[in-house]
Amino acid sequence: MRYTLNQDSITSIAADCLVVPIWKDGEPGDDAEALDEASGGALKQIVGSGDFRWKAGESHLLHEPAGCAAKRILLVGAGDPAEFDAGAAAKYLACGVRKLLDGNIRHAHFALEGIDAVFGGGWLAARLAREAETAAYRYAATKAGAGPEPVLESFSVPSLGDDPAAALARGKAIGRGMNRARELGNLPGNICTPGYLAAHAAELAGQHDSLSVDVLDEAQMRELGMGCLLSVAAGSVEEARLIVLRHQGGSGEEKPVVLLGKGITFDTGGISLKPGLAMDEMKFDMCGAASVMGAMAAAAELQLPVNLIGMVAAAENMPGGKATKPGDIVTSMAGKTVEILNTDAEGRLVLCDALTYAERFDPACVIDIATLTGAAVATFGHEANVLLGNDQALMDELLQCGRTCLDRAWQLPLWDEYQKQLDSNFADMANIGGKRAGTITAACFLSRYAGAFPWAHLDIAGSAWLADGARKGATGRPVPLLMEFLLARADQS
Ligand code: BES
Ligand code: MN
Ligand code: ZN
Repeated sequence: MRYTLNQDSITSIAADCLVVPIWKDGEPGDDAEALDEASGGALKQIVGSGDFRWKAGESHLLHEPAGCAAKRILLVGAGDPAEFDAGAAAKYLACGVRKLLDGNIRHAHFALEGIDAVFGGGWLAARLAREAETAAYRYAATKAGAGPEPVLESFSVPSLGDDPAAALARGKAIGRGMNRARELGNLPGNICTPGYLAAHAAELAGQHDSLSVDVLDEAQMRELGMGCLLSVAAGSVEEARLIVLRHQGGSGEEKPVVLLGKGITFDTGGISLKPGLAMDEMKFDMCGAASVMGAMAAAAELQLPVNLIGMVAAAENMPGGKATKPGDIVTSMAGKTVEILNTDAEGRLVLCDALTYAERFDPACVIDIATLTGAAVATFGHEANVLLGNDQALMDELLQCGRTCLDRAWQLPLWDEYQKQLDSNFADMANIGGKRAGTITAACFLSRYAGAFPWAHLDIAGSAWLADGARKGATGRPVPLLMEFLLARADQS
């Protein structure tokens, strides 16, 4: 999709379609008023007829409006201006974009007047570009496309905010990053293996000068003593990989932000085998890794002036003759022993050795992103990224970024009292706690490997994919949250 700026008067813009908001009780904004006048009252006639009202999600297409250079006008309900918050604005943009994609429209112009006053033009322009990118995404890797491809090619918007071109580029990169994360998430486990993720990272590094990649194989990880990570891959014929992507955007001395993604390309549970129902969804158990790839690609596209390291701990969790068994004890790279009481608590095992490895980068902070616990889904459904960590300032930053970009996080306590659930009679710690507080005890386990730096953990088991019907698929979250964070660190939000 291409994005351009157009400051001409709304009646003289010769787009295939103009998108115009209509407010509560059919109130037109200035643009709608001007179009109505030029067309001899066509807009007010529609609104007056009751065929189109003004509720969010409602729209109506007008053809060949008199007195206007555009071929069509799409009226989109914007709702009550008094209640028009960021969420309503995002819905308004998404609704407009979806209708445009359904139609035979190549070039569209979004009016956006009246709305920019509420949020600042930069937010709005970026959000529009992001919505346009993500709405146009179609999964096609292993399935013939349904219906004709969308023909929409370009958008123009009025010149909003301080630097609208940069805002559009930002939104586009975030949307593309989300689509990259969705595509990797949606790919089946027999295609998207640890080796596939490593090849993907290498390809990405080949496309951007700022990116370089380093991939550790099992022999190298054995050399480093990564007994926890390797124990997860033991039952699989797919070799584990530790992927390290670097984006050098800042000065040499600047400490890097490290993003670390859980990359379990399929989670059967291992010997502690999962029940069969909906097990296919465990192909999404690498969505943390996918979000790291998406964010790294977006950071590189935007040439963000930050030093950034994207790590992916990739493995397949399978039962097998060589698989790790409940009761087995392994030694982590940090030297601590772990009694594996449940082989289905594998995410923390791949992450703990990766966290230890991250120490060598002397990070400004480490954010791990993981589809870690079913308990996170049980509590929060699909809405929240669940946040825990050892540094409140870092977590406050993430909470605030989540509110700004609507990819929100909610914090849980990481109190010491929970730590004792991990006590083991036979090792320095067990890999699971008791029946309760599963999201917290999982984070407790990670916290023992994250003492050397400010650390935040995002449990995205609920937010990373949707499981229902036609909407089933990866969401691309939390790429927006990660990007908001990185842009703020780069002082570019
Ligand atoms: N990948 C799962 C977590 C998960 C389950 C995410 C369902 C989304 C939906 C993780 O590896 C896992 O199996 N966690 C266990 C941990 C338990 C054995 C302590 C869980 O949450 O049940
Ligand atoms: Mn598991
Ligand atoms: Zn898992």
